[in-house]
Formats: sequence, structure tokens, C-alpha cells
Amino acid sequence: MKMEHHLKLCTRSKNKFLTTKFISIFFFTLFLFVILFHIQYSYPFDFFLSARSQRCAFRSQENYSDVKETMTAKLKDSVTFLPLQDLRFRETATTGHTWFMSSLNDTHEENEAEHLYFPSKASKGRLLCFKGRDTKDGTKNSYALAWRESLPDSAILLEGLTFVSYTYYDHHNLWHGLSAVAPFVRWSMKNKCLKPARWVLFHWGELRLRMGSWVQQLMQANFGKVKVEGFDRDVPYCFEKAVVMRHETSQMGQENKLKVFDLLRCKARSYCGINPAGKGREINENGFSIIRLTLLMRRGSRSFKNAPAVTDIFAKECARVKGCILQVVQSDDLSFCDQVKVLTNTDIVASPCGAQLTNMLFMDRESSVMEFYPKGWLEYAGSGQYAYHWMANQSGMKHQGAWWDPMGKECPSPKDRLQCFLFHKDGMVGHNETYFTEWVRRVIDHVRLIKLEQASANQANEQQYDSKACIC
Ligand SMILES: *[C@@H]1O[C@H](CO)[C@@H](O)[C@H](O)[C@H]1NC(C)=O
Ligand SMILES: *[C@@H]1O[C@H](CO)[C@@H](O)[C@H](O)[C@H]1NC(C)=O
Ligand SMILES: *[C@@H]1O[C@H](CO)[C@@H](O)[C@H](O)[C@H]1NC(C)=O
Ligand SMILES: *[C@@H]1O[C@H](CO)[C@@H](O)[C@H](O)[C@H]1NC(C)=O
Repeated sequence: MKMEHHLKLCTRSKNKFLTTKFISIFFFTLFLFVILFHIQYSYPFDFFLSARSQRCAFRSQENYSDVKETMTAKLKDSVTFLPLQDLRFRETATTGHTWFMSSLNDTHEENEAEHLYFPSKASKGRLLCFKGRDTKDGTKNSYALAWRESLPDSAILLEGLTFVSYTYYDHHNLWHGLSAVAPFVRWSMKNKCLKPARWVLFHWGELRLRMGSWVQQLMQANFGKVKVEGFDRDVPYCFEKAVVMRHETSQMGQENKLKVFDLLRCKARSYCGINPAGKGREINENGFSIIRLTLLMRRGSRSFKNAPAVTDIFAKECARVKGCILQVVQSDDLSFCDQVKVLTNTDIVASPCGAQLTNMLFMDRESSVMEFYPKGWLEYAGSGQYAYHWMANQSGMKHQGAWWDPMGKECPSPKDRLQCFLFHKDGMVGHNETYFTEWVRRVIDHVRLIKLEQASANQANEQQYDSKACIC
């Protein structure tokens, strides 16, 4: 009971307390309204204050963007262009430090061609820019690195991926051209088969506006349309993304070279509409395996002195073996696709040393190469004469030896190697009937045995590389 009373009292006093609280809150709120009303409409000073504080905030932002603008302008001005061809490295241009973009180091990855990629960590996020389009003097063209936000004034930004190919030699010759572009094919294979939006070509820092037709079509077969950048305007050009290759395939491992050649062979055949299915297992009407022997001829320098005589020797030996078919073709009469077609259908190619031999790429792996040299090459042509021995090795072919013509005029000044090389450079190739007969007989027999083995291995090898080759 007492308890109850106490509770009642309590509630009552609580009610009283709440009422007081409510009244005070009401008045306080009213007071606030009045003040706010005054601030908003009648206190010019306060209004000025708030406007000033707004302007202050604006000012400090303005200060910040001022600083940004100043810094960007400074960065733009500090982009430093250096000559593409650095004459200080003239002596080591082919061996050691390159003279092309000499201030920059390559990225090295095991068994891959050295390359440069922009923008990257190594470039500190900067893009590659070029200025100049001289085609005769590489020191007049220049390169620089710049951040995308602070490209040099009036620079044009080229979107997408650009392949920048530098070669000490040229992009026309089949062999040199292929050596220059092969690393891009490999880089692309490793990078989701990326295709370039354009190519930029340099030789000694001099701009080149086209590749040879053979090289270009091979690249077209692999990457689609080839656009070579000419830098039409006289302003700096910067690249959203760029890959630079300047050492050909030198550091690329053997396995990777094989992969590149497998891909190019497959792409070129497909581009030319050639279906190699069943190739290598063809038999003639009498059940003999077909062996295709091709004499790939040249005109002019390093052609055969007596081509009909050489053809007769090869024809006689081919006729001796059932299933052997000889074809004799002039390489310079053939279109790109005709070359792909002829070599796709070749088991043994016999040809004088020369760029046309680069077409060996289109034969199936394990096919054979026979090579001929004019007099003077053995002594004076240096290691370069083994280019097609190397290529055979790198593309999975069998180099079945070479013949060095021992006959011909002697070099007038045998001590001067360069003069002697120039003296012999454009020589022609003779023949030795006994030697050629024995040699081609040996090679044909070798190929015949391989074909027999393959036939009994029950087609196990059929298209073993082709089916996996067109991975891009
Ligand atoms: C910001 O601007 C004010 C007014 O112009 C100036 O006094 C001040 O030094 C500036 N601050 C900076 C960091 O530039
Ligand atoms: C390139 O490499 C050399 C030798 O390792 C080094 O001294 C130089 O600083 C490097 N340059 C750049 C731009 O990284
Ligand atoms: C071919 O390549 C293999 C593997 O790299 C090597 O062992 C061999 O010596 C090379 N042969 C020639 C003739 O270069
Ligand atoms: C031709 O080749 C054969 C076989 O190798 C050789 O014995 C002969 O000396 C060569 N003839 C000439 C003229 O070189």
C-alpha cells in the first residue's frame, strides 16, 4: 500500500517535470527560429561572413589547381627529346650497346627477345614519344618519355598498341625483315595474341614508310591489316601503348623460335587458302609415297651459271626414285601466296644462298634444305653465310649441307677481306655433276626412308604441329 502511494506520487511529479521540459524546449526552438530568421534575412554582416568563407574555400582550390597547372606546364617543358640514333654507339651498333634509343634499357625475360614496353614500371608510367620523320639521317629524329597528363605541346596521342621495329638491316629483304618482325609475333603470342593498331619502322633511326611486300603479307596473315605510320605532321607523336624491339630474335630461346615459325607457317597457309590436311602422307597411283623436290631458282647474283645443267642432274636423280616429283621455280616470279603454296608442297628445297630461302619457313617441320654458294663465300662471307643453316635449325628443318663452288676468278687482293667479299658478292654458282648427283641421291633416299617410317607409324604424326600451331 505504502509502496503504491509512493509510486503514484512519483508518477505525478514525473508528469509535472515532463511538462516543464516540454515548455522550455518549445521556447528554445522558437528562439532558434527567430535567430535563424534574422541571420538569413536581416544580418548583412553574417551573410558577408559566410560568403567570405565560401570564397576562401574556393581560393584555396584555385591555388591548388594553379599549382597543378604550373607543374603540368613545367613537366611538359621538361620532356627531353634525344636523338634516335646515338652516334656515340656507332661501333657497337650491331654487337653491344645499341645506338637506337640508347638511353633506355631493355626488359629481359628468360628465353624471350629483349624488348621495351611503354608505359610500364620501367618507364615510370611514361609514354613513348617520337619527333621527326627524317628518312636519311637518324640523328634528326628523336624520342622522349612523357606522362600522359603532360605530353609535350601540340603532341598527337596515337591510341591503341603500336609496334616499333628497329633493324640495323632492313624491312624489305625476306630474311632481315623476318628477323626484325618475328619478336613481335612471339610477344603477341605471350600477350593474349594482341594485335597492333600500327607499326613504326626504323633503320638506323631513319624512318621507313613500308616493309617489303613479302614481310608485310606475312604480318598481315598473322595480325590482319598492316598500317605503317608515316607521322604526317611535324609535331611530336606519343603512343598510348608501345612495344619496341631492337635486337631481333637474339635472346629468344629455341623452343620459342619454333613456336613463332609454327604459328607463321599456319597463319600464312590459312591466309593463302591452303589446307595442308593429309600432306606428307600423299601417295601416287602405284602406292609410293610422294616426295616433292623443289629447285628454287634466283636471277642475277648467286644464280646458277648453268641452270639447265643443274636441273638435268636433279631431274635424273628424282626420276630414279618412285614417287619423286621435281618442280623448278623462279622465286622472283612468284607472288607471296605462290611461294607459300610451293613450299607447303615441298619436302626438299634446293637453292643457292639468298633471301628466297627464307621461304623454307612454309615447309612442314623436318623438311630438308640443300644450299649452294658461289666461289669466295667460304673464305670471305663470314658467319653470315650460315644464316640459312641457323634458320633451318630454328624453324625445325633439316639443313642437309651446302656446296661451296671452288671454281672461279681469284680475288685480286686476297689480304683485304672486305674487298674480296665485295669482289665475290655478286658471283654466280657453278656445278659439279658428280658431287650434286651423289648429294641429291643421298637426300632423296633419306626423305624416302622417313616417309616409309611415317607411313608405318600409322599417321601418328599427321599434322602434329599444324593442329596446335594456329593458337592466335
Ligand atoms: C593562395 O592565394 C593567395 C591569394 O592570391 C595567396 O596569398 C597565397 O599565397 C596562395 N597560396 C599558395 C599556396 O599559392
Ligand atoms: C641501364 O642499365 C645500366 C647498367 O645496368 C645502368 O647503369 C643504367 O642506370 C640503366 N639505365 C636506366 C635508364 O635504367
Ligand atoms: C641446332 O639447334 C640445336 C638446339 O638448340 C643445337 O644443339 C644444334 O647445335 C644446332 N645446330 C646447328 C647446326 O646450329
Ligand atoms: C666434283 O666432286 C667430286 C665428288 O666430291 C670430286 O671428287 C671432284 O674432285 C669434284 N670436281 C671438281 C672439278 O671439283
